[in-house]
Amino acid sequence: ISEDSIEVFSHVHPRDDMTNVTAKILSTVGSQLHNRPHHPLWLIKEHIKDHFYRSYIGRTGNPLFSVHDNLSPVVMVEQNFDSLLIPPDHPSQKKVDNYYLNCTHMLRAHTSAHQKELVRSGLDRFLLAGDVYRRDEIDSDHNPVFHQMEGVRLFSNHELFARVKNGEELSLFESAGRRTPQKQETHTLEAVKLVEFDLKQALTHLMRHLFGEDRNPIRWVDCYFPFTHPSFEMEVRFQGDWLEMLGCGVMEQELLCSAGAGNKMGWAFGLGLERLAMPLSKNPLLFSDISFWLPAEGYTENDFYDLERSIGGDLVREELLSSNLILFSYSPRTKRVSHCYRVVYRHMERTLTQEEMHIIHGAIEQAAEKELRVQGRY
Ligand code: PHE
Repeated sequence: ISEDSIEVFSHVHPRDDMTNVTAKILSTVGSQLHNRPHHPLWLIKEHIKDHFYRSYIGRTGNPLFSVHDNLSPVVMVEQNFDSLLIPPDHPSQKKVDNYYLNCTHMLRAHTSAHQKELVRSGLDRFLLAGDVYRRDEIDSDHNPVFHQMEGVRLFSNHELFARVKNGEELSLFESAGRRTPQKQETHTLEAVKLVEFDLKQALTHLMRHLFGEDRNPIRWVDCYFPFTHPSFEMEVRFQGDWLEMLGCGVMEQELLCSAGAGNKMGWAFGLGLERLAMPLSKNPLLFSDISFWLPAEGYTENDFYDLERSIGGDLVREELLSSNLILFSYSPRTKRVSHCYRVVYRHMERTLTQEEMHIIHGAIEQAAEKELRVQGRY
């Protein structure tokens, strides 16, 4: 930072009347807490990734959502606003609310700033995690730097209607439509309802995965974003309050058209990772991996999940939050396959100790060897 320019990530940005980023804020740029192993924000990010990897699997076992967590927080003002149809006079563009390097570049105020470029690059499904910067008044709830996870999923006509009986007769688009509180002018109501349903279901499943079955009630609130319609916020019940967790909606078709994906429809969400950490960190998550060689035949992944659920009575079930298959390997010598699962534990009322976790974990290992004929690699 000097009198006439600002250097970030070895790019020099000349100062002008818009410049308002401070040395203190610049010193935090690039710290990437969400990429530091074992940092709570990293853990939450990994947990969301695991959920999407496991829930959306392609025909060959490949994950369908790609994950981007290394995009620079320095973006063009155009990316942060114009690409999302946010007009220049919109209150969110105000200098007092954002950190501008100069009139062309700024620190992104939300991860939505990358929606258009990633869609343009041909991606139909992606997650994107990153640090975001807002010059809010700073109080206990608002830090000028926080982290978001963006998710986008696009649908072709075929993808959306494939599961509907006689779905070939339905269409995403209509030409003489009107914009209503339910839908955009170019969309058919049936398409919007399916996309909206898929979006809400995906996010409800994610929350259930993170908080456990029926632990924190959630509710949907109608709201407004310039880049989605209809738009919703999800709130989660926490310590007697409703906590705003995320914004989401059906992507504006104009945005998709400008990104070269005008023949598809999509949903998008943006989730606050610090917000999510609040109800989660009350009773921290513990992680432990379990890996074993599979028997020559007759083993499926679900056998392991079923076994876990059946183990040790209610106590354990309460503490075992989830597990995900995170690694396969194959030994050419013995021609055997091994699986590694990441098991996540959390006590619902208090902090689970390492010792308590090891006891449950040991019980799972033993039961797996005994009942699934696997051979532990512990
Ligand atoms: N970018 C919005 C925010 O930061 C959240 C959002 C993302 C809303 C994607 C809709 C779709 O508040």
